[in-house]
Amino acid sequence: MSEHASGKDGWGSKLGLILAMAGNAVGLGNFWKFPYMAAGNGGGAFMIPYFIALLLLGFPIMVMEWQTGRFGGEHDENTLGAMVYLQARQGLKPKTALAIGSISGGLCFAITLLINSYYTHIVGWTLNYSVMSFAGDYMDHSINTGELFVGMISSPTRVFLFWIIVLIMLAYAVSRGISGGIEKWAKVMMPALYLFAIILVVAAFTTGSPVNPDWSALKGLNYVWNPDFSKLTWGGTMAACGQIFFSLSIGMGLICHYASYLKKEDDVVISSVSTVALNEFAEIVLAASIVIPIGYAYLGQEVLENAGPSLTFITLPNAFRDMPLGQLFGGLWFVLLFFAGFTSSMALYSYVTTFLSEIARISKKKASWIIMGCFLIVGFPVAFETILNKVGNTFYLDELDLWIGQYFLLILGLIEVIVFTRCMPREQQYRINEGALKKLPKPFFNVLLRYVTPLMLIVVLIAATIERINSGAMALIPGGFAEDGSLADPMRVLWVNLARVVMIAIFVAATIITRNYVKHRYGDELAANAPVKE
Ligand code: ALA
Repeated sequence: MSEHASGKDGWGSKLGLILAMAGNAVGLGNFWKFPYMAAGNGGGAFMIPYFIALLLLGFPIMVMEWQTGRFGGEHDENTLGAMVYLQARQGLKPKTALAIGSISGGLCFAITLLINSYYTHIVGWTLNYSVMSFAGDYMDHSINTGELFVGMISSPTRVFLFWIIVLIMLAYAVSRGISGGIEKWAKVMMPALYLFAIILVVAAFTTGSPVNPDWSALKGLNYVWNPDFSKLTWGGTMAACGQIFFSLSIGMGLICHYASYLKKEDDVVISSVSTVALNEFAEIVLAASIVIPIGYAYLGQEVLENAGPSLTFITLPNAFRDMPLGQLFGGLWFVLLFFAGFTSSMALYSYVTTFLSEIARISKKKASWIIMGCFLIVGFPVAFETILNKVGNTFYLDELDLWIGQYFLLILGLIEVIVFTRCMPREQQYRINEGALKKLPKPFFNVLLRYVTPLMLIVVLIAATIERINSGAMALIPGGFAEDGSLADPMRVLWVNLARVVMIAIFVAATIITRNYVKHRYGDELAANAPVKE
């Protein structure tokens, strides 16, 4: 076996590991996506499928990914393709395992690279908004917050300045390694994030009913926590399942990547429970108790329900400017978002960097700066589109998110679960309990992970596919034709198809590269082509 390029690196302390994992999971998904998804899908009604998905999909996959990572680390592997190969080859012929491992590695690289190609931009927007908030840029009532946002994402200077600052910070953090970089940043940013969130929750709870007697913070809380079953929809259910994946960072290879730096005796059960708990605390306790009560009290239920993705950047500033100390609270909110986004972005960046350092056999330090150049290229269309159209259209970003951020994750999650439960012998699966203070009971393995989770994932995937067919998301000419036969929206056709070409090209290239990497590392096993017992 050849020398592993990434060398030996690992977590410096248990606290650092837990904070970095929480940083990996807690992100823009928790504070930006969750509130508008919950508000737009019936509030309390959204929470029912959400909790079901958390128990049946989120938790079991989280535990499985921690174990997959620890197992990969034992073989000196830090990226998903090789880990899936090593698991699959225990029950299948290595050549078949190679195909599955290569596809998983290709999917995982496409997911991490492409999510981060737009995620880093949004992190840049949060940094931009932090500065704007403290400077009081939207405090004047004559300012239209929609125009302010579009102005920001159309300005080349502002978009590139903040995006490049984020990329430099990421390259620097990741170049310093796991304990010397990622862990150190997470140890500062995560406690600060929870502190700011608690301050904002107190501010939200003491808001009362400042604008309209029918609108209050308490009514906002009631809206999220009091399920109205008539508002439970199929679309909301699907959105809840997708949210669990994105928010917990599962189906992205990120948990496996961080867990591959564990020590052999580390407890993956308690670690998974803490990651889920910290993520959910941030999402359903903190985020829901900041955005929804403030939005409800100052802007009312209707505005909140219809805000969609513009909730954070466009809608909320309208509330902050009416709040006492709103300039400060607005600033804290966007710094919080920046910390949340940055620590998740760091995990995505670290994965891509490690992949490059493994395949090119170069140091992580070098790989990290080269990857910055890659992001400047793959992330460029995201900025170019908004700068060009000047009206806030984000077709390219939306197309990437629709497939990479909401669909590929489910496919990768399904492959991982099937390989874990069907290819590995039971005693390998039970290794989840190795070193665990509180062991998971047998039904977790033999019922939940083996049957319930994969079946539910298959149903969700089929539903998501049907939804995409019905909504026209698979059409070659998105937006269709106008009555005179011309393209209804030529720019949309262009950006959407560019995004498709980029996604396919990166997936195919990464699959081939993963295949070569695994072949190089495990050539002897592949030549013998007989299942390998661990
Ligand atoms: N899990 C990360 C988030 O929620 C990607 O943003």
